[in-house]
Amino acid sequence: MVEVKLKCIECGKEYDENESRYQCDCGGLLDVKSEGVEVSRKMFDSRKDCESGVWRYKELVHPSAEKIISKGEGGTGIYSNEKLDAYAGTKIIAKHEGENPTGSFKDRGMTVGITEALRKKAKVVACASTGNTSASLAAYAAFAGIKCVVFIPEGKIAYGKLSQALAYGARVFQVQGNFDDAMRLVQQAGKEMNMYVLNSVNPWRLEGQKTIVIELINQLGWRTPDWIAVPLGNAGNTSAFGKALVEMKELGLIERMPRIAAIQATGANPLYKTWKEKSRELLRVKEPETIATAIRIGNPVNWRKALRSINQTNGVIEQVTDQEIMDAKAVVDACGIGCEPASAASVAGTKKLVENGVIKRGERVACVLTGNLLKDPDATINYHSGKIEGVKGRFVNKLQTIEPTIEALEKALAKR
Ligand code: F0G
Repeated sequence: MVEVKLKCIECGKEYDENESRYQCDCGGLLDVKSEGVEVSRKMFDSRKDCESGVWRYKELVHPSAEKIISKGEGGTGIYSNEKLDAYAGTKIIAKHEGENPTGSFKDRGMTVGITEALRKKAKVVACASTGNTSASLAAYAAFAGIKCVVFIPEGKIAYGKLSQALAYGARVFQVQGNFDDAMRLVQQAGKEMNMYVLNSVNPWRLEGQKTIVIELINQLGWRTPDWIAVPLGNAGNTSAFGKALVEMKELGLIERMPRIAAIQATGANPLYKTWKEKSRELLRVKEPETIATAIRIGNPVNWRKALRSINQTNGVIEQVTDQEIMDAKAVVDACGIGCEPASAASVAGTKKLVENGVIKRGERVACVLTGNLLKDPDATINYHSGKIEGVKGRFVNKLQTIEPTIEALEKALAKR
C-alpha cells in the first residue's frame, strides 16, 4: 500500500495529502512524501508510448491521482551539437523543455497542479508569474474549465507569455511592483480569498517538475550525466531536481548522483550570494534586474528546498551576466535548438564553470532549456540589432534591407 503525506521540511510535521495547504503551521515548506512505492526501470521503459512524459512516472509523481488533466506534456527532446560543446568547453546534452504544450517546463508542474486543484474541488486557481507560469496555468485551467487569476509584474513580462495568458482567458492583473510583490499578493489572495495557489510553493507542482530529470535519465538509458545545469529563479526546478534524484537513488533507479549546477543572473542573484556566503538567512535582492525576465526574482520562495538540493547533490550555484546569457542564447539558437533568454543561463553557467575548473572538460552536462525561443522575440531581435543596453552583439545575425533586384542581392551576399 502506498501512503502519501505532506511533510514539513523544517519541523517534520505531517499532514494528510488531501489538506489544502502549502506551508506548515511553523511556516516551513511542505514536501509530498510517498511511502511504499515500488517501481523499476523496466516498468517505465515499457511505458515509452505514454502520451504524457509526466504521467508515465505516475508512481513517482502522484500515486493517488484519478481524474487526470493532461495536454500531452513532457516527452521533450534531448540534443547534442558539436558547436554547443565547443562553446561550453565540454559535452552538452540539451534537454528542451520549450517543447512542452505551452512552451515551457511549467506544463509538467501544471498538469499535476490542476489535477490536484480539481481533486480539492477548488473554484479558482491563481499564480504570480514572470510569464511562463501564468501562460501554463491559464491554458490548463481553461482546458479543465476552472477560473484562473494571474498576477504579473507591470511591464516586465515577455509578450509571447502575456499573449498566452490573455488568450487562454485568465483574469490578468499587472501588479505595480516586481515579481516578489506579485508573489506576496497571490499568497495573501490564496489565504483570504480562497484561491488555490499554483506557484511552486505548492508541493504538487514540484512533483510534476521532477519528471524533467526522471525522463532525462530514462532517455539516457538510466545512465546519469555528471552534471545537470538549470537556471534558477523562484528555485522550483532546483528543488524538484534534488528531490527526484534522492528518490531515484533510494528506489534503485540510479546508482550515481549527478551534481546540480543552478545558475542565476548577476542582477538577480539572492541564492548565489546566500550560498557563497554560507548565510543561514536568504540574502534577498530588493530590485532584481536582468534581460532574462523569467528569472528576475529577488526573493525566491523555494530557497531552502533549493539549498537542500545543492547540498544533497554536492552541487554548486553560479551567476552569469546578461552578456553571457545572451551570447549563450545566440549560440544555442544558431545550433538550430533555440531557447528563451533565461534558459540559456544553463549553458552560460556551464561555460563559466568549465572555465573555472569546477566542471572538468569532458564531463557530461545536461543543460535544461526551460523555455521556447518564441516566448521572447523582442530579446532576440534586440540582440541581433545591437539594441540591448550594456550587451554587445558578439554573435549577431544582422537583418538587412535590399532593393528587390538580383544585383542588390548579389551585392549584399558578397558583403557577408
Ligand atoms: N526558466 C524559465 C523560462 C522560467 O520561466 C523560469 C521561472 C525559470 C527558468 C526559473 O525556474 O523558478 O523553477 O527556478 N519562471 C517563473 C514564472 C518564475 O513565473 O514563469 P525556477
